[in-house]
Amino acid sequence: MKFLGFSLRNQLFVAPMAGVTDRPFRQLCKQMGAGLAVSEMVTSNSLLHGSAKTQRRANHEGEVAPIVVQIAGANPAMMADAARYNVERGAQIIDINMGCPAKKICSVMAGSALLRDEALVAKILAAVVKAVPDTPVTLKIRTGWDRNHRNALSILRIAEDSGVKALAVHGRTRACGYGGQAEYETIRTIKAAASIPIIANGDIGSPEKAKFVLDTTRADAIMIGRAAQGRPWLFREIEHFLNTGTRLTPPRVNEIHQILLAHIEDLYLFYGSQAGVGIARKHVSWYTKGLLGSAAFRHMLNQLVTIEQQKQAIDAYFSALAEHNEHLPYHHVDPDGAGPDHVKLEELAA
Ligand SMILES: Cc1cc2nc3c(=O)[nH]c(=O)nc-3n(C[C@H](O)[C@H](O)[C@H](O)COP(=O)(O)O)c2cc1C
Repeated sequence: MKFLGFSLRNQLFVAPMAGVTDRPFRQLCKQMGAGLAVSEMVTSNSLLHGSAKTQRRANHEGEVAPIVVQIAGANPAMMADAARYNVERGAQIIDINMGCPAKKICSVMAGSALLRDEALVAKILAAVVKAVPDTPVTLKIRTGWDRNHRNALSILRIAEDSGVKALAVHGRTRACGYGGQAEYETIRTIKAAASIPIIANGDIGSPEKAKFVLDTTRADAIMIGRAAQGRPWLFREIEHFLNTGTRLTPPRVNEIHQILLAHIEDLYLFYGSQAGVGIARKHVSWYTKGLLGSAAFRHMLNQLVTIEQQKQAIDAYFSALAEHNEHLPYHHVDPDGAGPDHVKLEELAA
């Protein structure tokens, strides 16, 4: 797929998730079939502090192009600075977050809270586009502020007029949080009215659901968040299904064992051993969620504090799993995209 001048493997994007889509995870998702991955957001005021976290988020060493960095904030001049800062450090696409309902972001009138103030949206978009004239700027939104204020179509117009090059839409209003069903019909209306590429997002957790959302919305691409946690190979499964209409055999237990080990090694290197062990714990929990005996395994994992202990525990767990199963015994996630929690335990034991 051609996207903003880049040749992508496919139209399957990794959604930005603060605390999740760090460089190791983005790289892994791309290796496992994602066409594009958006970084965790960098808040525009955090640049002032130059914290280790901000610096780490601007580290893209070895990342496959295009490098997409998401910025968040409500002050046009600071957002312009944030865009320039990240482009100077390798960002090839700047994505603006007006889709995140997180309190921390919304309380300072950023993220999806901005959708309420269209004049300010216009100022931010214009300032960012002007600040990085050679870099495509994209925008991520929800469908509106609440059910009575679905203003995505006006935001689309503002975005197009400001020179924004693509729009990702999470099919919910800000007030909806994560409740209810994603509104794919609204995304379809936005796509029908748009002259820029539209990316559909929300509740995509299986190959079938991915095809359904692409067909229903006619979006140019889809973006997947929660369902990819602990399951980066979902992208290749969707890619295969879209190309062939058939499901890939679930991955081999041994393959996932090796992928998980490589992933956590990357986390230890990226964050250092102490923080790395904590962050790895979260990912390991996602990988194993729903598998036989995994609750006890996770409980034990939470007590372990060294890299060696963590790796040994993973080896023991996956070796035991492999004794009875060649393939990872997971089932496709529920259509609401809740995540890979729906593994049929009896199959694991079979
Ligand atoms: C842990 C977590 C962190 C998130 N952080 C961001 C973020 O930094 N920026 C953003 O635009 N959206 C963020 N989101 C929203 C996702 O990008 C996505 O729009 C939402 O989860 C819906 O997609 P999904 O149903 O595929 O998860 C986050 C979501 C989660 C679960």
